[in-house]
Amino acid sequence: MTEFQSKIRTIEWVDTFSRMVDQTKFPYEFSFVDIKTGQDMFDAIKTMIVRGAPAIGIAGAHGVVLYAQELEKENLSRDEFVSKLLEKADYIATSRPTAVNLMWAIEKQKEVIKNSTSDIKGLIEELKQNGIKLENEDIEINKKIGDYGAEVVPKGATILTHCNAGALATVGYGTALGVVRSAFAKDNTVQVFADETRPRQQGARITTLELTMDGIPTTLITDGMCSYFMKKGMIDMVCVGADRIAANGDTANKIGTYTVAIAAKYHNVPFYVAAPLSTIDTSIKSGDEIVIEERSREEVTHINGKSICAEGVNVINPGFDVTPHELIAGIITEVGILRPDYNKSIIEAFKNQ
Ligand code: MRU
Repeated sequence: MTEFQSKIRTIEWVDTFSRMVDQTKFPYEFSFVDIKTGQDMFDAIKTMIVRGAPAIGIAGAHGVVLYAQELEKENLSRDEFVSKLLEKADYIATSRPTAVNLMWAIEKQKEVIKNSTSDIKGLIEELKQNGIKLENEDIEINKKIGDYGAEVVPKGATILTHCNAGALATVGYGTALGVVRSAFAKDNTVQVFADETRPRQQGARITTLELTMDGIPTTLITDGMCSYFMKKGMIDMVCVGADRIAANGDTANKIGTYTVAIAAKYHNVPFYVAAPLSTIDTSIKSGDEIVIEERSREEVTHINGKSICAEGVNVINPGFDVTPHELIAGIITEVGILRPDYNKSIIEAFKNQ
């Protein structure tokens, strides 16, 4: 158990509601918010109070329980209850489009709804228990990812990461930062270079915070600096998270990841993706099919509520990009490190689940 991990769960079911770390307040405030309605959960995901692919998956699963609790009060027949709840589940899945873990976890809840033979009360309890099970499994999976990943971290390595794929993007421990945590536990000379990650600065606001809390040496750099440090031989590997991985290994992650991957290829720095199997979407052949979230212009034009550019300037703000599979040295999962040809290794991974 790391220092950070012993303190918090990023998201957790408490009795009748979902408690989560409010990630919009970093780095000024470390506070929790209790989400008590399905609509509030939809909004929490959309406004990124909770963010990071595995964390929003759990948020989606909790959202289904919240809607179930609300519908229970409407005195519906069981059939009406089920049909309305399935509609609400699909609604929550539309809160953010790119991270497939959201749809995956909601699908897990829909399976419970469809397979249950219990009355409404019993069904709500089953959904609650399933949400808690997904929470617990998330941490276990991340630890396995961390341990597999640590095997490919060279001694004394400097690992570059982009965005935040840490404890705060999951229930705990993290995917890419899980690899860092496991590597650091074996070799405390490992260190991290964290990309700031414009526009929302998850690297600066979140990654530096959680790594520093764990005493892992971390250097903050801005997004354009990675090639400079790679050329100087100061980066030994890149490890990032993922929001959706296609059947051929193409990987959507926070905007700017693709640029890092190109720089890594040019400088012969191995580029790894760390993600649970729930981030792999085998229903799509390539990254071309991944829907990229478009976010507001204010995220780009403003920092801390202050404009940083000419008023009225054109802005485009895609939240994610897709790194082609050719640039990825390995995908670190809970069943091992997948290597090219990903079309084959991904199918094998699901068989070994
Ligand atoms: O927009 P965000 O902050 O939800 O984006 C997060 C990322 O891109 C993470 O790298 C990804 O979700 C993996 S989290 C383990």
